[in-house]
Amino acid sequence: MSDPAARIAELEKQVADLSSQLMQAQKLASVGTLATAITHEFNNILTTTINYAKMGVRHQDAPTRDKAFEKILAASQRAAKITTSLLSYARHKPNRVDVVNLSVIVGDLLVLVEKDLMRYRVQLETHLADNIFAEINASQIQQVLMNLVINARQAIKERGQVTVTVSKSSDNKWAEIAVKDTGCGIPKEVIPKIFQNFYTTKTADEQGQGGTGIGLALCKDIIEAHKGRIRVESTPNVGTTFTLKLPLVKQAGLVKSKEPQLVNS
Ligand SMILES: Nc1ncnc2c1ncn2[C@@H]1O[C@H](COP(=O)(O)OP(=O)(O)O)[C@@H](O)[C@H]1O
Ligand SMILES: [Mg+2]
Repeated sequence: MSDPAARIAELEKQVADLSSQLMQAQKLASVGTLATAITHEFNNILTTTINYAKMGVRHQDAPTRDKAFEKILAASQRAAKITTSLLSYARHKPNRVDVVNLSVIVGDLLVLVEKDLMRYRVQLETHLADNIFAEINASQIQQVLMNLVINARQAIKERGQVTVTVSKSSDNKWAEIAVKDTGCGIPKEVIPKIFQNFYTTKTADEQGQGGTGIGLALCKDIIEAHKGRIRVESTPNVGTTFTLKLPLVKQAGLVKSKEPQLVNS
């Protein structure tokens, strides 16, 4: 018979490994959701690039060529921004914690979701304050934000608005990220259930997104592992606001990598 303590340690390790795998699988599923919108965006960028390249070839005068080069450069930079954001979001770095400027990682994630929102006629408004730093695993916090934004989009039946805000709490202790929508809202009696694993009121949308009930449970685990808080305020038929609070770090600087411990709730 093996030592029970060793067996427990082994099982705990397996649970931790499976939690990490589930998190990565959920993240890649959300990338899949965005694939259509991102592919359309790339097509638009390519069309712009090809048209201006043709213009530059046909018209030899310097002003026309300069204009063509500028347009091609801007389009290519936009494409590079999307691929860089996508690669950094999809990369699995469970052990990494850095002091990061929250508005930068929030902005990078929104580059990936904005076209998806446009497809559903959802307007995106942002208020991203600068110089707000927190010590986080950036890709995990982006995953939380991605879940909240996709939930917000799914809560909006026809046209609406999603507002993403990065700010500091009034007592200067927390960095806050808020995602506000003008969607269907959540009845009071349902709110205690939404963070439970597998609680869902949806069937998957045409992108196959939603309907598993693991999104908010993962968000809660990730935020708690960061010693943060996640709060929800909602009014049926008016909308919902999710607010993430993360311990505020006063200054930017490199911090050694350490692993936020995922709690399996
Ligand atoms: N922004 C929102 N507006 C209205 N309801 C929401 C919102 N976000 C989450 N919910 C509710 O919480 C439930 C659980 O969300 P989640 O854990 O992300 O699972 P899923 O998206 O797979 O249903 C949803 O099914 C929905 O009922
Ligand atoms: Mg969800």
